[in-house]
Amino acid sequence: MDLLRIDAGNRFDEQLDKLYKDYQTHNEPIEFSFRKAVPYLTKADIATHLIHPYPAKLLTHIPHFFLNNEFISQKGDLGLDPFCGSGTVLLESLLAGRNCYGADANPLAQLISQVKTSYLNVELLNLHLSEIKEYYLNNENLHTPKVVNIDLWFSKRIQNELSRLLGAIRTIKDINYYNFFLICFSVCVRKVSNADPRVSVPVKLKLNRYDNHQILKNKASQNIEDVFNVNVLDKFFEIVGMNIKRVDNLNQLNKYKNKAHIISNDARNLTENFNSTTLLPSESIDYIITSPPYAGAQKYIRASSLSLCWTELIEPMLLKELNSKNIGRENYVKAEYIEFIPTGIIEADQMLEEIYRYYPLRSHIAGNYLREMCIAFTEIARVLKKGKYFVLVAANNQVCGRDFPTQNYLKIIAQKLGFSVEIELIDEIHSYGLMTKRNKTANVITREWITVFKKQ
Ligand SMILES: C[S@@+](CC[C@H](N)C(=O)[O-])C[C@H]1O[C@@H](n2cnc3c(N)ncnc32)[C@H](O)[C@@H]1O
Repeated sequence: MDLLRIDAGNRFDEQLDKLYKDYQTHNEPIEFSFRKAVPYLTKADIATHLIHPYPAKLLTHIPHFFLNNEFISQKGDLGLDPFCGSGTVLLESLLAGRNCYGADANPLAQLISQVKTSYLNVELLNLHLSEIKEYYLNNENLHTPKVVNIDLWFSKRIQNELSRLLGAIRTIKDINYYNFFLICFSVCVRKVSNADPRVSVPVKLKLNRYDNHQILKNKASQNIEDVFNVNVLDKFFEIVGMNIKRVDNLNQLNKYKNKAHIISNDARNLTENFNSTTLLPSESIDYIITSPPYAGAQKYIRASSLSLCWTELIEPMLLKELNSKNIGRENYVKAEYIEFIPTGIIEADQMLEEIYRYYPLRSHIAGNYLREMCIAFTEIARVLKKGKYFVLVAANNQVCGRDFPTQNYLKIIAQKLGFSVEIELIDEIHSYGLMTKRNKTANVITREWITVFKKQ
């Protein structure tokens, strides 16, 4: 199967050409299964894709399909995912012989993406791992970062073992290797915590939540026992062992040695590199593939909070400020929505104004989401070269029990910015992992819309 991936080449040219012709003839979205189109991607654990979990990850098949053809891009091209999350598009770009930039507001996502697409020497990784073990066993230096409610999430014994392990990891001086171990540490933090592994944001694992489901209740009970008995160093070794195998697999699969970089922490302000204030040049990008956030669907910062604090990517007191940069967030102070602010999308404004009368916060969350996405799309239109493609993966949701066709609104924004719609596909979401049961005002996302735009 790995060999098939190496030879994926231009295997989707014909299929894309047919989809394009069908759509241009009938002008109707086409039902399309990416799982069936890319049947050889049956196992998700390819290259470094599973190096670290992340909420609402993109189905690998989608970027794989759009990258292994010459319709959308060519080998050596420079792509961009402005909402890159854990770097699925970046990694698939490398595997398809493209270079790719990424942007994300979540520092944990930035770090995962960077590590996921780095070429690391497996022998050096093993050497550093032995150094970490030796340091851990022979030193009692504790490095304990500030973690919100630390006693709720970790027993004193586990806090102590994590602090000692972090002290040992901090002795690795090469930043790329240090980052790899930090990512493994971040996976470990969540696994040895008292948080329910089935819920993306940290909530304490309680057996009575599973009273109506005996299998899940047994699993939860086993989980509580495992965390009680866990040896942090052993768990860390287990995670590192699996991740070194993934890096090894990436090194074998990636024959092109292309590059991926995180260039910005905000899709609304794409800079030429991460610490620069100089904008990414206009018309410098050959393709864009992205799955943006939704209004109120995933709490990316809260979901990452234990890892963000333990890895010291952010001080706990700055978590709120970080969240305020997240498009789709739910926390607003009343002063921000004392009156209805139109989005400029007529189709959305009528409904949002009605909702505003009885649930102003919900109306504001959805409205502000569209306004911020409009700024992000303006940036996408600025950096993409003329005549090039922008692939958008989005779903529809609900606001206060009413259908909120996010995909359609995003399409209207893109068209206003001069994009034409070349292909529209609809795929069922089969994996439960991709879904998110949300609060009573929103629904479960079950279908994804994949729209291929062209910049005119
Ligand atoms: C659906 S997820 C992307 C998942 C990604 N495709 C993957 O496979 O992991 C959306 C991402 O948008 C990010 N995001 C939210 N606001 C942002 C902003 N202003 N700029 C850039 N990224 C942002 C979130 O942190 C989240 O990682």
